[in-house]
Amino acid sequence: MKRLVIVSNRVPVPKEGLRPGGLAVVLKDLLARKGGMWFGWNGTCHPDAAHLPPEIQQAEGVEYATIGLTPAEHRNYYTGFSNSTLWPLMHSLPEHIHFERRELATYWSVNERFCENLLPLLRAEDVIWIHDYHLLPLPALLRRHGVRQPIGFFLHTPFPAPDMLATAPDGGTFLRDLLKADLLGFQTADDTANFIFAATRKAGATAEDDCTLTFEGRRVRVGTFPVEIDPQAFAQTAVTAAGSQDLRRLSGSLAGRKLVFGVDRMDPTKGLDHRLAGYERMLETYPQRERQVTFLQIAAESRTDVPSYQALRNKLEHQIGKLNAHKGQADWTPLRFLTRGSPRPTVAGYMRLADIGYITPLRDGMNLVAKEFIAAQDPENPGVLILSRLAGAAKQLEAALLVNPLDHDGMADALERALAMSPEERRERWQACWNSIANRTALGWGLSFLNILENAARR
Ligand code: F6P
Repeated sequence: MKRLVIVSNRVPVPKEGLRPGGLAVVLKDLLARKGGMWFGWNGTCHPDAAHLPPEIQQAEGVEYATIGLTPAEHRNYYTGFSNSTLWPLMHSLPEHIHFERRELATYWSVNERFCENLLPLLRAEDVIWIHDYHLLPLPALLRRHGVRQPIGFFLHTPFPAPDMLATAPDGGTFLRDLLKADLLGFQTADDTANFIFAATRKAGATAEDDCTLTFEGRRVRVGTFPVEIDPQAFAQTAVTAAGSQDLRRLSGSLAGRKLVFGVDRMDPTKGLDHRLAGYERMLETYPQRERQVTFLQIAAESRTDVPSYQALRNKLEHQIGKLNAHKGQADWTPLRFLTRGSPRPTVAGYMRLADIGYITPLRDGMNLVAKEFIAAQDPENPGVLILSRLAGAAKQLEAALLVNPLDHDGMADALERALAMSPEERRERWQACWNSIANRTALGWGLSFLNILENAARR
């Protein structure tokens, strides 16, 4: 029987009191079902990390093999090249790209360390599934060390257009490294097309058909695998949470006002500054809405060592203070902004209570929050989803109010339209969105990728 080996930058090692969310749960379920190992960084940072062997632990039928990072690796590989160069590059945000050669050198060396530590743990029957932009060189490194097992790679972020890729230091190398995998998966058809275009124009691959490339005598399968949630389970979580004390307190505090809701990591790609500007523009353009709405935005702090994230935090603090000071009244605060994360069930309850889900990333691989907002709604009285047309989820949730996340007037008009929308139109739009996610599951997403990977490697 095949053993699944998942490799990702961060491994959600089970810890007391810590419950992983979203995709981490899916990958863990897949591993528990198929039997396997999860390899990667355990989130720790200490000076001796480079000399220590992987720590192995078993929990709930899954083997975790993890390594730490040294402070210099954390600074140059994680904070530096992964999150200051590749992350904004993948999201086509050149103004946030910061590049240092020494950070690239550490990015390569950490990938080599991932490879060296993983090799002795591999078995002949393994299927290897690598995740995300931190590990672009890993398929090629493994092949160079003689690994013949099937290798799949899934990119959770968007894949940028070829012109954007030109800003990557030696983008061609990353393409050639990825092409050493058997299957490459992307979130949307546009991402897949961008990759095929770049691979054929810049890396010397040849396209056989829409989903097969030939590179250095090997065939590489390429495909679109939009990440899914478990809609039925999330809906149930939201129904249960709606009766909780937290929800009663929030509902009471609204005093009958409509609730606009957003939840994200505090990340420059999420468009939070423009989102607040769109809300402020709505209050200016439609002053009759003053006192009728409350906007609750949760933006949990993330990657706090990255300068562009620090700059965003400063900008938002200024913006939040200004908005509430200029627009607020003695008994009405237009915006509530929380930087502490909330437990997933509570968030599901907030979504169910919300009249509007306001999710406007500048660009996003998928955005599972948008799918969760739909799943959390009461079908008889659903809220309206306002969604950035640049989120991968917009390709499926076409019946949401799709907006340009940079167009403050457009977002203001969408907020007004959602606030005034008839119950019939709300139900119709919600139903169309629900239909596009209801029969899919996160586990189905994972299994479909693995199924194609096993077949692709057999050819
Ligand atoms: O979406 C990309 C991603 O790297 C996810 O895999 C991860 O859950 C999230 O961003 C947070 O990333 P980090 O590990 O940097 O906290």
